[in-house]
Amino acid sequence: MRSGSESLLIGEGLSYAYLERFPALEKVSLEVSRGERLALLGANGCGKSTLLKILAGLIFPDHGSYRAFGEEVSAERLEDEQFSAAFRTRVGFVFQNTDAQVFSPTVREEIAFGPLQLGLAPAEIEGRVAEVTQMLEIGDLIERAPYQLSAGQKKRVAIASVLVMSPELLLFDEPTAGLDPRSRGWLLELIDELGRAGKTIVFATHELAELEWIADRCLVLSEDHRPLAEGAPAELLADRELLLRANLIHEHAHRHGAVLHSHPHERGHHGRAG
Ligand SMILES: Nc1ncnc2c1ncn2[C@@H]1O[C@H](COP(=O)(O)OP(=O)(O)OP(=O)(O)O)[C@@H](O)[C@H]1O
Ligand SMILES: [Mg+2]
Repeated sequence: MRSGSESLLIGEGLSYAYLERFPALEKVSLEVSRGERLALLGANGCGKSTLLKILAGLIFPDHGSYRAFGEEVSAERLEDEQFSAAFRTRVGFVFQNTDAQVFSPTVREEIAFGPLQLGLAPAEIEGRVAEVTQMLEIGDLIERAPYQLSAGQKKRVAIASVLVMSPELLLFDEPTAGLDPRSRGWLLELIDELGRAGKTIVFATHELAELEWIADRCLVLSEDHRPLAEGAPAELLADRELLLRANLIHEHAHRHGAVLHSHPHERGHHGRAG
């Protein structure tokens, strides 16, 4: 491992296409230091979730290399059970769609699943579950079925099942999307605390207002899946031209007025022929 300001993650020239046909990431490089909080920004479909999946070792780049914790992460390396178990304990990923993440019969079992897989002692598991349950304020949901919960509640459960493993690296895909203002504020505070506790955090977001609170640095991807800019939140937020180019802000909110207010018979002229 390198000394000095240590890079926890190093991605070089990462490219990825789904089914070898749908480009999702083009030559994206990134370096994340231990304890740093990096925000991934960009329009819908630019590749944020894909990049997070690569960082989580769920998919592997077609080109380029990815190193985490000083070691190469690849399909071959993750076939090694010991390496894979160590890597998976160090990395926690909260998906954009938490439905894809919660599957146990009860919230308690959902949260205890990871620690059980790790083979921890029952008392240790119980202690950890109690701790994250309290931290996430989901004590009253613990005996319920995760699939019966609201989206915001499911998100809390998904975060609890990740934090219970105490990972060094946290990957959040649009953590505050769909949360009510109180839950959103609460989650931002939690992420801030996790950062203070020394966790390394990489998250995707569309919420520019949250950046200065929970990001040290931002990486902006373009709609053609390439790196567009990188810098401190304040720097990027001041660059209106860049924000427009990355489709992070919208200049003419009134542009749709014509469509929204047109008479039904007028739409026929412009609508697509069926
Ligand atoms: N399973 C898939 N099969 C085929 N193409 C996919 C798949 N998942 C994503 N893509 C494509 O890859 C590109 C990047 O998608 P990705 O989900 O990484 O974007 P994103 O930046 O996370 O977008 P959003 O802000 O909407 O979450 C998009 O063009 C998308 O259509
Ligand atoms: Mg996404």
